[in-house]
Amino acid sequence: MRNKITIIGAGNVGATAAHWAASRGLGDILLLDVVEGVPQGKALDLLQSGPVDGFSGRVTGSNEFADSAGSDVVIITAGLARKPGMSRDDLLAKNVAIVKSCAEQAAKHSPDCVLIVVTNPIDAMVYTAFKISGFPKNRVIGMAGVLDSARYRTFLADALGVAPRDVNAMVMGIHGDNMMPLVRLANVSGVPVTDLLSAEELAAIVTRTQHGGVEIVNHLKTGSAFYTPGLAAIEMAEAILTDSKRVLPCAAYVEGEFGFSGCFLGVPVVLGSGGIEKILEFELTAEEKADLAESEAAVHKQMEATGL
Ligand code: LAC
Repeated sequence: MRNKITIIGAGNVGATAAHWAASRGLGDILLLDVVEGVPQGKALDLLQSGPVDGFSGRVTGSNEFADSAGSDVVIITAGLARKPGMSRDDLLAKNVAIVKSCAEQAAKHSPDCVLIVVTNPIDAMVYTAFKISGFPKNRVIGMAGVLDSARYRTFLADALGVAPRDVNAMVMGIHGDNMMPLVRLANVSGVPVTDLLSAEELAAIVTRTQHGGVEIVNHLKTGSAFYTPGLAAIEMAEAILTDSKRVLPCAAYVEGEFGFSGCFLGVPVVLGSGGIEKILEFELTAEEKADLAESEAAVHKQMEATGL
């Protein structure tokens, strides 16, 4: 039997995620949205790319949560996107209500699924989905680290003139200004980037990564990024559906790891069929620990604002 992936929200991020999922042949895809016609139209269009792209999965669109029943993975992208001048936090109140209802419905119709939360502000929204779904912590995961790390890797690759995929680098912490691009461990096929770029060059790349989302919002003016956010969610879904034990930075519920508890924080995790199978904890320097503590403080503020 094919895997079933439900993507809630047929906007730019949701539709792009569906596109990547179909193209990678991950299974049958349901695109769900409250707007009548949009998920149906986009799904039909995407389905018709199958003969050319070569995939065989079904792609359908719906306005009914019941159609999502029995999903293996549910990706929540529904919510308002950022406009210029809006922080991720400005979205919080509006998106809490949306994510609450999505998580409730997902848990009702797909009680065994893994939930991947993409809606911003991600760290608060994944907490909302965790609280409302009642799922164990390993089955509720926030997408942020794969996106932020992809931006970081892109900028490093650009500065070094090397293939982006050979850059191994990770962003931990919050999906916001306090995110922590790790410099000490970043490398190109094993060669430390600290031996290849100056401290000034690296600092500029770190800052650009931390503001990678807003850089795109400022260009687009009417919305935020969607190609890489959509792909990042599918990279996670694929690791889960294929039980591949990929190690990806994700927002995971921490209970003592890295010295933090009771919140979602971007950390490296092993993804397999059970969702988060393990958090890979490692020793941080005092400075890194202090940076992560800033992320954690910002996440806690967001969590309080959800009222949950
Ligand atoms: C970004 C938005 C999706 O980082 O938060 O592009």
